[in-house]
Amino acid sequence: MNGVVSIEIDAPDDWHVHLRDDEMLEAVAPYTANAFRHALIMPNLVPPVTSTAMAAAYRDRILAAAGPDARADFTPMMALYLNDELNTADLLAGAEDGVVFGAKFYPAGATTNSAAGGTSLLDYRAALETMADAGIPLLVHAESTDPDVDIFDREAVFIEQQMLPVIEQIPELRVTVEHISTRAGLDVVRDHPQVGGSITPHHLTCDRSDLLANGMRPELYCKPVINSREERIAIAAAATSDDSSFFFGTDSAPHPLSKKEAAKVAAGIFNAPYAIEVVAELFHEMGALDKLEAFVSHRGADHYGLERATAKVRLIRNADDDGEPAESMRTAGGAEVRIFGADAARRWTWESIR
Ligand code: DOR
Ligand code: ZN
Repeated sequence: MNGVVSIEIDAPDDWHVHLRDDEMLEAVAPYTANAFRHALIMPNLVPPVTSTAMAAAYRDRILAAAGPDARADFTPMMALYLNDELNTADLLAGAEDGVVFGAKFYPAGATTNSAAGGTSLLDYRAALETMADAGIPLLVHAESTDPDVDIFDREAVFIEQQMLPVIEQIPELRVTVEHISTRAGLDVVRDHPQVGGSITPHHLTCDRSDLLANGMRPELYCKPVINSREERIAIAAAATSDDSSFFFGTDSAPHPLSKKEAAKVAAGIFNAPYAIEVVAELFHEMGALDKLEAFVSHRGADHYGLERATAKVRLIRNADDDGEPAESMRTAGGAEVRIFGADAARRWTWESIR
């Protein structure tokens, strides 16, 4: 039970992360830069990142904030926000220059800073066809905003109404269903070879009873909302399976405590500091540690046609030196941010082997 477990894996990637800007960026960027090789950076700033020039400037700010312990191979991968502002020629030029990696679609109003999003994915058909031709991936927040649809059904309804038509009408388009929260998300990935799916630490390890049953826990509130136990079990089974379509994306999304413990709670879970530890502990519990490297280090890079890492990371469970992991951190201005996953961080430590 208390035996030490030590494994080496290729350096992991985070295929979905919110690093914010300014003081919050300064505070959170080092956690991601220390732990991950690629980090796919979400563009939902205010105003959103809609041009190659904005993405290039944001990438520079991220690299400046990455800190002295950043991995030598840390690479922010920039996504543009797909809305009416987006200029397709600019997107193509940005991708050609290696500045822009993909485009992210948010349904307007679905989540934090999504007011600038689109009404329907189908409205962007021309841009999507251009992206398909150029091999630029579409990243999707798959959640219906129809108020008549129950919050726990919104992923399934979005997929049915907006995603399947796009996938079927533009089959050359590479698509990622971000932060899969239900079996509907798993199924659309399984049914289409050009579609991949990212999976978060929190959708892997928590269900809505954790969120709601024993005192409502705003730190577990995110979008898409954490769903039922059955959905969580199916997601964990997919992540630990041999299916190469599912890969790791933290959706780490920091908010100050003042927004998380408010009359209207902001959606988002800050998990970057212990993301690897949380997933390692789950895979350990499931007897699937031999699948961890594929999930966190290989499949995303393979899906996006990138080289696998050359550097490695060593993960150790029950090492002696376990200090008490912090459960929150503060920005320079003093805003407190809760950190997800301290229990797993009590078990696991990791180090880069460069
Ligand atoms: O919970 C979430 N928080 N989901 C998202 O899609 C956005 C994110 C954020 O930016 O806070
Ligand atoms: Zn996100």
